[in-house]
Amino acid sequence: MELIINEAVMLPEYLPKKLPGREREISDITYNFKIALDGRKPENLLVHGFPGTGKTAVLKFVLKELEEFSNKIKIVYINCWHAGTRHNIIVEIARSVGFISPMKGVSIDNILKRTAEIVKKRNYAVVVVLDEMDRLIASGHGDVLYDISRMNEVHKVNMSVVGIVNDFELVTNLDPRIRSSAISRDVEFKPYGVPELKKILKDRADLALSSYDPEAIALCAAYAYKFKGDARKGISILLSAARIAERRGLNKLCVECVEEAVGKIKTFEKRKKPEVKLNGIEVRIIDAIKQEGRITSGELYEKMNDVNDRTLRNYINKLAESGIIDIKSGGSRGNSRILMIRKDRVE
Ligand SMILES: Nc1ncnc2c1ncn2[C@@H]1O[C@H](COP(=O)(O)OP(=O)(O)OP(=O)(O)O)[C@@H](O)[C@H]1O
Ligand SMILES: [Mg+2]
Repeated sequence: MELIINEAVMLPEYLPKKLPGREREISDITYNFKIALDGRKPENLLVHGFPGTGKTAVLKFVLKELEEFSNKIKIVYINCWHAGTRHNIIVEIARSVGFISPMKGVSIDNILKRTAEIVKKRNYAVVVVLDEMDRLIASGHGDVLYDISRMNEVHKVNMSVVGIVNDFELVTNLDPRIRSSAISRDVEFKPYGVPELKKILKDRADLALSSYDPEAIALCAAYAYKFKGDARKGISILLSAARIAERRGLNKLCVECVEEAVGKIKTFEKRKKPEVKLNGIEVRIIDAIKQEGRITSGELYEKMNDVNDRTLRNYINKLAESGIIDIKSGGSRGNSRILMIRKDRVE
């Protein structure tokens, strides 16, 4: 019998039917949404935790559970990494309730007003889930939280928001006005311990593999624990170990295959370019360059006139030194600098 009988359950898109170790978070968040069934307003939550701790999986799970109440609670799930800007997010919310707004030429206030009219007519509560909100905040689009919270005050609709981030600290950089109106409570997803990781990985292995040594699963869990309790890492080790076993013609996943899979990840990570951690200003500079394709330093100073020129210049130089952007001299007298993202960095 083949070893891998269902590879799909080890892939990132797979949403498991059970989420061991997150029962408390699931019931907490479900309850928070369900109070909307009595016409009350759910609390605005900030969900935070390290990568791979089940934040997205839990929210998607809860969302599914609540599908049967979709005439009373509309949950709008948005990945901010894809949506990118405040405007795109508002357009996405509008679209989800049925208002198709043209992407350009309609002001945010107008979109919000039309959206509110529809929501009132439909008479449902709206919960907006903003996943991977870190970059959105870092690039200065955190105001969208304020827009959403104002839907209640100004337009009298029942709309709340769940923000999901890795880095709780980022949120402390938000304007206090936004923070207090858009976040009423935070829910921390602590890293998984070994027992939870074992259970998560065993559930996957039961579905995916025809046979495995329990020690191999325990080893995957131990490694995932080392990676800050990251279930995603654990599952990817499991998958890569299973493939190694299959290539060797084994009909049982063994400990050695897991060791080999982990060895591969380690050498890969060593070879990877060092991760550059960007701060809010750097992210804004990169976004500004990306928007234009290339931009002169003068234009950038204008766009970011809330940051002083010297600070900007320092950050530009730092980004160039880290190999993220290229600087060319340009302008009619060669006195201006043209900034662009380095080709090998363009996603
Ligand atoms: N409790 C759990 N039970 C089963 N699978 C889980 C559990 N927690 C996480 N996973 C799985 O681990 C992977 C990562 O989880 P998820 O995407 O929810 O992490 P995350 O916290 O959103 O991470 P990030 O901050 O990087 O977005 C997914 O494949 C998910 O199905
Ligand atoms: Mg996630």
